[in-house]
Amino acid sequence: MLEAAGKSPIWGSRFAEGPHPLFFAYGRSVEWDRRLATEDIKGSVAHVHALLRAGVLTSEIAAQLESGLKELADDVRAGQGLAILPEDEDVHGAIERLLGPIGGYLHAGRSRNDQVALDFHLYCKAAAKELATAAQDLEEAILQICEAQGDKVWWGMTHLQPAQPVLVAHHFLAYFWMFERDRRRFLWAEGQADRSPLGAGALAGAGVPVDPASAAEELGFESVYENSMDAVSDRDFALDLGHAAATAALHLSRLGEEIVLFSAPAFGLVQLPDAFASGSSMMPQKKNPDGAELLRGRAGRVLGAHLGLMTTLKGLPLAYVRDLQEDKEATFSIVDATLAGLRLAAAMLPALELRGVEIPRGDLSLATDLADHLVRAGVPFRQAHHIVGQAVRAALEAGGDFTCLDAATWQALSPHFTPGALAQLLDPRLALERRSVPLGTAPGRVQDQLAHARALLDAAD
Ligand code: ARG
Repeated sequence: MLEAAGKSPIWGSRFAEGPHPLFFAYGRSVEWDRRLATEDIKGSVAHVHALLRAGVLTSEIAAQLESGLKELADDVRAGQGLAILPEDEDVHGAIERLLGPIGGYLHAGRSRNDQVALDFHLYCKAAAKELATAAQDLEEAILQICEAQGDKVWWGMTHLQPAQPVLVAHHFLAYFWMFERDRRRFLWAEGQADRSPLGAGALAGAGVPVDPASAAEELGFESVYENSMDAVSDRDFALDLGHAAATAALHLSRLGEEIVLFSAPAFGLVQLPDAFASGSSMMPQKKNPDGAELLRGRAGRVLGAHLGLMTTLKGLPLAYVRDLQEDKEATFSIVDATLAGLRLAAAMLPALELRGVEIPRGDLSLATDLADHLVRAGVPFRQAHHIVGQAVRAALEAGGDFTCLDAATWQALSPHFTPGALAQLLDPRLALERRSVPLGTAPGRVQDQLAHARALLDAAD
């Protein structure tokens, strides 16, 4: 049963009655925005200092406010949290109430509009940094498993069909670069949140002579908004963070999918650690890749919340509108899910056993090498492709690979397929060596890549 809320102590006097209980419950954000208590208190302390410098508060009142805020901050830090009451609408109102009558002095020159924008900037800035660190830890885990793979090989695939031999390390290094780009996007998003909206007031600028630059500096912001209306209604920084997180979540989902797939007995490329797998409640033999499946699945939550926030922001008029309150639920959900996913992946990857494959001599995945050989002998690639295609068909008809073809068949296909040339061309290890362009899978190039990745990570610390 919903209680009727009384008139708001903050804005209720011009109203004849309190909000309808359903409306109050619908608009109440304190269950979410209480997570911003620390940021809110920090911002209020800086505002108290600004009001003191502006001569709006006496040093006595400022000192009382500051000690009240400090006490609340201690409670939050000690894990006790704020003593929220059912009638508290949001975290800003709750803190004002908890300060007691002295709290009434806190809002000169400030509205909840710039206050919530400030809290949210502080939150997004810190979250972006935390996500960058989590991405970095995952990159470290990926690099370590890549360094441990040595010269293990398996089939690189396109269309999920065997394509060409690649080093297992080369395959997983692809994920290193994805998360390296994510890390940089998070750091960029951190910079986008590094702008203070303090001084904006409700929308037109504070009516008391506070100095936004010194308040911003006290809070560790790089800069201050140029325009008060932009300052209270901008949520681009949350979208920047959301985009970075959505891309990382998408990368986690691709990694999750490959672990699910490769650990299936039909692939048999990855041995799943027990600590990241689950059993079945009915089939006693089952061992399921639930950790990797959740990495894949939870990306949906992140992508959905990101799209949801963009949709909320679409078409909003200036300046503050209550729709903006939706920013927090979406962003908390994006940050929580992405952070947990990055951390899970960093813990799970080192525990995976990656099994290389003994690619047989004469395997059909060497077909491109045969065509490249003809090209080196001056044959146009299209014609070379056609000739090797015939060799593939002959091998398949013989029920096997290129080793099924005899010397006469090779010679009939092309005089360049001499036994000496074929001895080299049908060796899968040599096929790897031939992929020696700087971004290729030749073992030497992969060593270079590992060294470059290691240098990047070391420089990131
Ligand atoms: N809970 C609100 C939010 O998160 C705070 C600002 C409310 N301002 C207002 N004018 N109703 O957006």
